[in-house]
Amino acid sequence: MRLSFGTWVAVAVLATAYAAHLLTSFERPPVTVVQRGFRGTAMEVIYNPRVLEVQAYLHRAPEASEPADAEGDRAKDVYQNVQVLGDLSVAQFGRLMQSITEWVSPEVLDEAGNPVPAAGNFQRGCNYCHNPENYAEDSVYTKVVARRMLQMTKHINEHWQSHVGNGAAGEGAGVTCYTCHRGNPVPSQVWAQVPTQDQRRGRGFAQDAASQNLASPVVGLSSLPYDIFTPYFENAADIRVAGNDPLQVNNRHSIKQTEWTLGLMAHFADSLNVNCTFCHNTRAFFDWQQSSPQRVNAWHGIRMIRDVNANYIDPLKPVFPANRLGPNGDPLKVNCATCHQGAHKPLYGANMLRDHPELNLVSATPAPSVEARQ
Ligand code: HEC
Ligand code: HEC
Ligand code: HEC
Ligand code: HEC
Repeated sequence: MRLSFGTWVAVAVLATAYAAHLLTSFERPPVTVVQRGFRGTAMEVIYNPRVLEVQAYLHRAPEASEPADAEGDRAKDVYQNVQVLGDLSVAQFGRLMQSITEWVSPEVLDEAGNPVPAAGNFQRGCNYCHNPENYAEDSVYTKVVARRMLQMTKHINEHWQSHVGNGAAGEGAGVTCYTCHRGNPVPSQVWAQVPTQDQRRGRGFAQDAASQNLASPVVGLSSLPYDIFTPYFENAADIRVAGNDPLQVNNRHSIKQTEWTLGLMAHFADSLNVNCTFCHNTRAFFDWQQSSPQRVNAWHGIRMIRDVNANYIDPLKPVFPANRLGPNGDPLKVNCATCHQGAHKPLYGANMLRDHPELNLVSATPAPSVEARQ
């Protein structure tokens, strides 16, 4: 069979396009390969040392200030309106106010050392949360949010050691405000619900695009469904889709559901900067016996996120001003990237909690009333 000239041209064009694709989508050698599973299973993670170097600043924990004296008067006896930090000494209280300012709303100085004013109505430094005329009043909404965030952080460190480790005892990293905020009032990696009729598509024949078929960074620039967080991190949709039955007669999971699972998995891999093989043996994705211990960490992480979003962030909805909410009117919430930001452990496992014992003294009850401010 002879191929026509046109066919040859088409083959040449395709081959060139494929080569260009390889060049742009593969990492240039040399790369570092870290073996994570048994020999021969290809359970390894590939890192590009040049990319790691560029991103190193993001994963560096800031230096801790001098520890505070735990003796002396309690904050609740000295200040007027402390609902969750009453058991701290006055020195610990002051140190914690300094720390949260550095972690969430630090002053930004220009080259001459003068404070740069923040955009809009917002202030930086203590005034991000306080009316400087009266530190006790709750008129600035960020103070109400911060009080609940203090409780949320304590809750994660106390009840989710299955995921974050026992940071207080130094066995694992634990979390502080810095884990998510990194000096930003709104963490850089957050999510909100996608409106049902996707506004990016406009109205078409399909009533709902199932948030699909548009390349989205949420799912690694694939065209998998990209509203993956609402079903898995706000609701508890089933992630496991593989059946135990070879004939699949009893498995009601669809290919469509599998695509959603895959979208979520792309988010896991992206958030931690790892491959699927960090957690799975690809010969049997479903099998826990052949998975790495990290897959179990991840399992707990999914449940932790559902808890935090449902019990701490969503209930703050009436406190946030409209411009802080997503297009569906829900608050911006936590996913894997909020803490991990491209590292297999946030801040490469640095334990900041040990240097900030004040965060363990936050009282969990009573929960401050959100309605009180409306
Ligand atoms: C990210 C928000 C935030 C920032 C920034 C912040 N604070 Fe606070 N501050 C709070 C919260 C929340 C409380 C209430 C704690 C409680 O209810 O137990 C509080 C309470 C106080 C109180 C007690 C007032 C009273 O009489 O009840 C003082 C004093 C205080 N802060 C000082 C400061 C100083 C000084 C700074 C800057 C170095 C600062 N704060 C920065 C959130 C913040
Ligand atoms: C609240 C912050 C936070 C969130 C959100 C979070 N993680 Fe983590 N994760 C941590 C911390 C902190 C550690 C380190 C624990 C330690 O040092 O023992 C960790 C560790 C891990 C590990 C173990 C890594 C290793 O090298 O052993 C895996 C896997 C993991 N997380 C996956 C996830 C996945 C998947 C999600 C989303 C479902 C997620 N995490 C969400 C804070 C978080
Ligand atoms: C697990 C991640 C996580 C941790 C830990 C965390 N935050 Fe947040 N924080 C968030 C998210 C998500 C939002 C929501 C942003 C939004 O909806 O605007 C937020 C919002 C806030 C806001 C409101 C910002 C604004 O301008 O609207 C303040 C203030 C705040 N956090 C303070 C704190 C403080 C103080 C701590 C530590 C005691 C802390 N956060 C710990 C994730 C976290
Ligand atoms: C950080 C760990 C982690 C990474 C990385 C990861 N997964 Fe998963 N995967 C899990 C966990 C945990 C579950 C089960 C979730 C549950 O049961 O709630 C799961 C479930 C699955 C399932 C469903 C298995 C079943 O029983 O039906 C598939 C398929 C899958 N992952 C594929 C992938 C692919 C493909 C990648 C790479 C793009 C990937 N995973 C990356 C942790 C991970």
